Amino acid sequence: MSVIEKPFLQVLRGECLSPPPIWLMRQAGRYLPEYREVRKKIGNFLELCYTPELAVEVTLQPIRRFSFDAAIIFSDILVVPDALGQEVAFREGEGPVLKKLNDKADLKKLVWQERKLDPVYEAIEETRRELSDETALIGFAGAPWTLAAYMIEGRGGGGFERAKHWADEAPDSFSELMAILVESVSHHLVRQIESGADAIQIFDSWAGLLSPSQFERWCLAPTQAIVKKIRNVFPEVPLLGFPRGVDQHYEIYAETCGLDGVSIDTDVSPKWAAEKLQPKVCVQGNLSPKTLIEGGRNMDLEVDAILENLGDGPFIFNLGHGVDLKTPPEHVAELVERVRKKA
Ligand code: CP3
Repeated sequence: MSVIEKPFLQVLRGECLSPPPIWLMRQAGRYLPEYREVRKKIGNFLELCYTPELAVEVTLQPIRRFSFDAAIIFSDILVVPDALGQEVAFREGEGPVLKKLNDKADLKKLVWQERKLDPVYEAIEETRRELSDETALIGFAGAPWTLAAYMIEGRGGGGFERAKHWADEAPDSFSELMAILVESVSHHLVRQIESGADAIQIFDSWAGLLSPSQFERWCLAPTQAIVKKIRNVFPEVPLLGFPRGVDQHYEIYAETCGLDGVSIDTDVSPKWAAEKLQPKVCVQGNLSPKTLIEGGRNMDLEVDAILENLGDGPFIFNLGHGVDLKTPPEHVAELVERVRKKA
């Protein structure tokens, strides 16, 4: 019996494939009418994440439509603070709102509730059963810094000044928070792999806000610790990281974190990434979500330029950030066709 390969996993193990595998960050979501239908039935976004049959359904929607090479389990990075007992709510038009952490005493209240995320693991098991053998399933979590930023600030949108201030003014207690998050995130990722995730992506969406010394301490070190913990249990499972906005620091991230793949944002030049990152890791990226909204000839040219620069090494086609809700689904279909035909 021949084993069917998953192209997404092959490139993360260092193979070069033409055409490269493709999936998109935030490929499930409000730009899809079938997602909005499901979303209408349920008031609260977290309830959608915690209802396995619905989470499975919306995970599979973009796979049915576009036959991406990977599905990402429908969930959110903020389920980790939720499982630690912090109040998390998603308000319409406002994004996430959390009950802010104020001081060291608040850290004592963070206690991991082991059963809380069972519905996520159940959704992963069911999704893996439903996916074809060629399609990979990605589990994910937020990196400690990005989670801490939301947990301290209570919301997104600003520059996370309060979180940066805490990290600088009280590094000991901030370090305690980071240790809690390293532990919780690692545990959550290991449970996702046990449930059937074929690969993992760690989202450090706000790594670009850190100064160079903060970056080393609050992005590199915790990511290295998480990678080590996962590798102790699952040495072979491919791991991807996305330290958004870190500019030339992508290089040290790729060199020192022990990841198999690094996702680049739209500010990174594909040529630079091919030279500096691809010899060390599989690169993923980096079409602009805005270009995808516009579509047309400009999108084709951008796609071709990315493939020309990165297509000869281990590579996964993706966006430089998540799909925007204004994206016409037809443009996504055209993108997939272009990537698969060009090669
Ligand atoms: O398709 C997928 O990518 C899987 C699901 C997924 C979601 N969020 C679903 C979601 C993933 C991987 C995430 C990651 C996530 N969540 C990140 C890291 C990636 C990034 O975008 O930088 C961050 C920072 C969050 C936190 C978060 N969740 C914010 C800031 C928001 C509000 C913004 C928005 O788009 O509304 C969310 C809500 C959220 N997470 C939605 C979805 C589909 C929209 C909520 C809805 O449908 O009402």
